[in-house]
Amino acid sequence: MAEVAVQSEGRSEGIVISDDWPGYSLELFSYPAHYSGDLDCVIIPHGVIMDRTERLARNIMDELGDHDIVVLCVLKGGYQFCADLVDRIKALSRNSNRTIPMRVHFIRLKSYLNDQSTEDLHILGAEDLSFLAGKNVLIVEAIVGTGKTMKTLLKHVEAFRPKMIKVAGLLVKRVPHSSACVPDYVGFEIPNRFVVGYALDYNEYFRDLNHICVISESGKQKYKI
Ligand code: HPA
Ligand code: MG
Repeated sequence: MAEVAVQSEGRSEGIVISDDWPGYSLELFSYPAHYSGDLDCVIIPHGVIMDRTERLARNIMDELGDHDIVVLCVLKGGYQFCADLVDRIKALSRNSNRTIPMRVHFIRLKSYLNDQSTEDLHILGAEDLSFLAGKNVLIVEAIVGTGKTMKTLLKHVEAFRPKMIKVAGLLVKRVPHSSACVPDYVGFEIPNRFVVGYALDYNEYFRDLNHICVISESGKQKYKI
């Protein structure tokens, strides 16, 4: 990861979900009936996401809580994580005498078709980020795979000369050829499987699912473009 981001100590890979973890049976949870047959298992229940997010918010406050921060939410997949994370940070801020002025800005990245990453990365809403100059920036991403997208984005953001850049990633996927580009704050490290839910999509489907689930082969076929 870029020099400016490598400032935290005790960086953690988050909660590690191993490759042989079978997940929870869908029958143990409620989920939208229109997705029945489209999912293999629940890999992270919604409540666990919320609990982990609360702790990440505390870690973020401990490190950034004495400066104004600009949150850069990476859409579309990051909207739910960002909303919940900002919510937790606000709650901590309210309940302490350290209050933290926060701005939230949205950018959009697009590189996936079906379950494959495409070569061309589009960054929208990031043309003029000059307001980041001298600020503490927290980039909030739902998922980091090879780290290539993150690397490109960091380079783009660095050009606007922020004081500090930190990255919060809810999920880090164990993929081959992953770069050294790992978020400063990680929710969960997950196996290399295509996951959906909690705003993560497969061709725009499954954002309306609360839990993070593994998509089934038939689900992939059903929503293929
Ligand atoms: N799910 C949804 N979007 C993604 C994933 C994933 O597993 N990996 C990269 N973008
Ligand atoms: Mg997507």
